[in-house]
Amino acid sequence: MAYSRRSLLLLLLLQVLLATTTLSSSDNLPETGNDVVVEVNRSQREFDYFALALQWPGTYCRGTRHCCSKNACCRQGSDAPTQFTIHGLWPDYNDGSWPSCCYRSDFNEKEISTLIDGMEKYWPSLSCGSPSSCHGGKGSFWGHEKHGTCSSPVFRDEYSYFVTTLNIYLKHNVTDVLYKAGYVASNSEKYPLGGIVTAIQNAFHINPEVVCKRDAIDEIRLCFYKDFKPRDCLGSKDLTSRKSCPKYVSLPEYTPLDGEAMVLKMPTDE
Ligand SMILES: *[C@@H]1O[C@H](CO)[C@@H](O)[C@H](O)[C@H]1NC(C)=O
Ligand SMILES: *[C@@H]1O[C@H](CO)[C@@H](O)[C@H](O)[C@H]1NC(C)=O
Repeated sequence: MAYSRRSLLLLLLLQVLLATTTLSSSDNLPETGNDVVVEVNRSQREFDYFALALQWPGTYCRGTRHCCSKNACCRQGSDAPTQFTIHGLWPDYNDGSWPSCCYRSDFNEKEISTLIDGMEKYWPSLSCGSPSSCHGGKGSFWGHEKHGTCSSPVFRDEYSYFVTTLNIYLKHNVTDVLYKAGYVASNSEKYPLGGIVTAIQNAFHINPEVVCKRDAIDEIRLCFYKDFKPRDCLGSKDLTSRKSCPKYVSLPEYTPLDGEAMVLKMPTDE
């Protein structure tokens, strides 16, 4: 399954990273040779921490109606997204808000060509794209691309951003943690939210944030300081603050669109 060239270009343009300072040393962050042209909206203050947002395709894809080449909700067989996938690594402020509409800089597509396979598998778009409210409303490959462009000054270029996010994801297999605790995809079982949170706490020693769509787990977020050491997410101190999830939650199985719906192609698919 390949992205159309236009989608890919769009994706890359929208995900460009801004950096003004060099990276602090960390094994997560490989140096890359080329400096990129950077522009930063200096009236926007630097963010406080990262949230790695992981989405559960079984929940998201239940609402899918359209297929396009980049929509992972239409993948079948061994391509099917059956584990938590990356939604984004988002910069956040401690007050619960986040920076938005950061400037873009020129981008060299070749810089991340070695990561495309991993991104298609672990960081797929689960839709045919929703418009962004930034940069003149040009369509976005990911719903939250704005978060990816505001990570200055932690990342010096887009390659660092993508490879770091993939690395953090691969080191924190939430799907595996839940499966080992007996929380497997099911259209009939309900699981205690507290048990799911405890399993993640035991595995990674941080309090996650859990987001639900009705009673189904939609996202699990893991939070990190700017040096990528784990920290608690905001609003994760006690179960009562997880407003959007009930006490018992489901982890729906992934079901691709049926053959009839597959016929509906989006005009954005080339
Ligand atoms: C820069 O950030 C500030 C503060 O968030 C915002 O008000 C302003 O509109 C931004 N400027 C541009 C050009 O995006
Ligand atoms: C995560 O764990 C699941 C279940 O054990 C496994 O199928 C999957 O391949 C793992 N994902 C990654 C990225 O290692």
